[in-house]
Amino acid sequence: MTSQSAMRVLGIGGSLREGSQSERALRIALAGAEEAGAQTVALAGSALSLPFYDAAVAERSAEALALVEAVRTADGVIVVSPGYHGALSGLVKNALDYVEDLRSDVRPYLHGRAVGLIAVANGWQAAVTTLDQLRTIAHALRGWPTPLGGTVNTAEVKFDEAGGASDSRVADKLRLIGRQVAEFGHSRRAWDGVSPDAGVGTPE
Ligand SMILES: Cc1cc2nc3c(=O)[nH]c(=O)nc-3n(C[C@H](O)[C@H](O)[C@H](O)COP(=O)(O)O)c2cc1C
Repeated sequence: MTSQSAMRVLGIGGSLREGSQSERALRIALAGAEEAGAQTVALAGSALSLPFYDAAVAERSAEALALVEAVRTADGVIVVSPGYHGALSGLVKNALDYVEDLRSDVRPYLHGRAVGLIAVANGWQAAVTTLDQLRTIAHALRGWPTPLGGTVNTAEVKFDEAGGASDSRVADKLRLIGRQVAEFGHSRRAWDGVSPDAGVGTPE
């Protein structure tokens, strides 16, 4: 990314379910990033319906190539997963596995990018354990998890189609996560302007 181009935040997440609460949470967080001056793109739900990631094959579907390119060009990323059996969903995990295709990039994996992480489950336990897993993955991919992570319990709050929430404090928190991703992106661009420090390697 050059400092002349718009700062870009990519959202990944949601489920295949009509009216997905995690996709709605993702869109609220992206709105927060926009408030902080980012352009946003969402790859949600069926856009993540990709073949199982296979490191041994070179061919990729058009959708997979679009995902990898979107991560490559993003200044920051927001990941929102539903909690499935206490963990992130297979859909979201498989999408994140594709970040492996950026292993040899100038900015490998999520290097230099803030990652906003939000878990949406029907109870607190799965929300918390899923957020923890998302943070572990973001660290492994060399991303910078934002100070605030999101846990949403859909037994207590519902998101509507228009971007609202039955509890406005929850929506405020999600927007704040989006803002933190964008703010880090602005800072990182300023830093890269004086000290480019790209490196190549493997996830830890
Ligand atoms: C396969 C499956 C497993 C789930 N497992 C859990 C769970 O362990 N704990 C929980 O609180 N909610 C669980 N849920 C509920 C979802 O986390 C919750 O409905 C969430 O809002 C779903 O996201 P969505 O609305 O984006 O589809 C599960 C749902 C599904 C479909």
